[in-house]
Amino acid sequence: MQIKVWKIAFCNLKGGVGKTTLSVQFARWLALHGKKVLLIDADCQGNASSTLIPESTGIEGQTFATLGIRCTKAAELFSDKCGSVIPYKTEAAIDIIPSEVADVDLVRCSFESMEASLNVASNVSKVENEYDYVIFDCPPSLGTAVAGPLLASDRLIVPVVLGGNFQESIRSIRAAVDAIRSSTPKLKLLGYVVNNLPRNSPLDEKLFENVKDWLGEDVFPTCIHNRLTTLRAGQLKKPVFGFLNKKASRELTEFFDSIMDRLGESRLGLPEVTKEEK
Ligand SMILES: Nc1ncnc2c1ncn2[C@@H]1O[C@H](COP(=O)(O)OP(=O)(O)O)[C@@H](O)[C@H]1O
Ligand SMILES: [Mg+2]
Repeated sequence: MQIKVWKIAFCNLKGGVGKTTLSVQFARWLALHGKKVLLIDADCQGNASSTLIPESTGIEGQTFATLGIRCTKAAELFSDKCGSVIPYKTEAAIDIIPSEVADVDLVRCSFESMEASLNVASNVSKVENEYDYVIFDCPPSLGTAVAGPLLASDRLIVPVVLGGNFQESIRSIRAAVDAIRSSTPKLKLLGYVVNNLPRNSPLDEKLFENVKDWLGEDVFPTCIHNRLTTLRAGQLKKPVFGFLNKKASRELTEFFDSIMDRLGESRLGLPEVTKEEK
């Protein structure tokens, strides 16, 4: 029997829309439900890596090598000389192929030829069968650095924030996704997800309704509100699900279960956590 691994990219040409927050919390949610998850931090800011590897603080001069962390780094996936791929096992029961904070090797990948981006898929395929889910946290850029992860993925989630020019932003990412999909027909859009919507704001709720009218099925039916718990979880490098205030976990769980719906997988619900954070 063939075991299906879902390879899902969280991508937008913009920064600050929640790619890292949502991809990391999704990875945590899956891991808390006992799924085997590999997270690939394809962003040279290394935010997902410093979140999941607590000993790496991102301070100047500190590298995975100086911390004694030996694993394959995301930049190496772009090379045809990568050899065996060795993910790092984090305490959160998520394996990660990390990037350093300010990872110049990954920056250099943006200037590689497009052929280099194909190496990401072949290098990830060396380990993907050990996992139920491979999740890519993509960089806010175009070119080889994002083409690699997208060519290696089979599903795409696009977090968006309804700022002043969100229509232009969504149209741009749509055009980019269409262009990429013409080379990778297997990459299917799971949906746009509206993140960071201000709470208690009828005007913003109306904007969200307009986006649903505009994008139809392409947008996830639930949005994710701006919540202090989500921000705190990011700052403290913790899962949202362990916080006493359950509003953020319920909302994210609803979103993550709607991802499962779209994948044709069973819903998993709120994960159980042993330790609660205030
Ligand atoms: N739903 C949310 N509620 C509160 N803060 C959020 C939410 N989503 C993202 N953030 C915060 O917004 C900032 C940018 O999010 P991030 O996930 O790093 O975006 P990206 O990876 O797209 O650049 C981070 O400080 C994050 O903690
Ligand atoms: Mg990010």
